[in-house]
Amino acid sequence: MTYACQVDDVPPGEGRAITLGDRRIAIFRTAAAWYALDAVCPHLGGPLADGIVCDRAVICPLHERRFDLATGAPLTTGDGVPAHAVEVHGDHVYVALAEPERRVA
Ligand code: FES
Repeated sequence: MTYACQVDDVPPGEGRAITLGDRRIAIFRTAAAWYALDAVCPHLGGPLADGIVCDRAVICPLHERRFDLATGAPLTTGDGVPAHAVEVHGDHVYVALAEPERRVA
């Protein structure tokens, strides 16, 4: 687990983009849990951290594809995004990065 941010850095019901190493990660805080996905939508690069958080999903702000916050699986169409494990200890949020997606050309 790597320190990612403070709890207060992510308002409830929203997401925030951070950089961990060479990765851009979107961290989401819902009423029930914390989640982290790669920050870039696999469709055309939309900023997932700016998407609408609804239940356990985020809606990309560009073309409204939906992704499961826990798994990164697509809930509409197309590819999913890597999901990362999140733990909160006190005021600190930690993320364990998943392997980057590797696509065969
Ligand atoms: S860029 Fe995310 S749905 Fe198109």
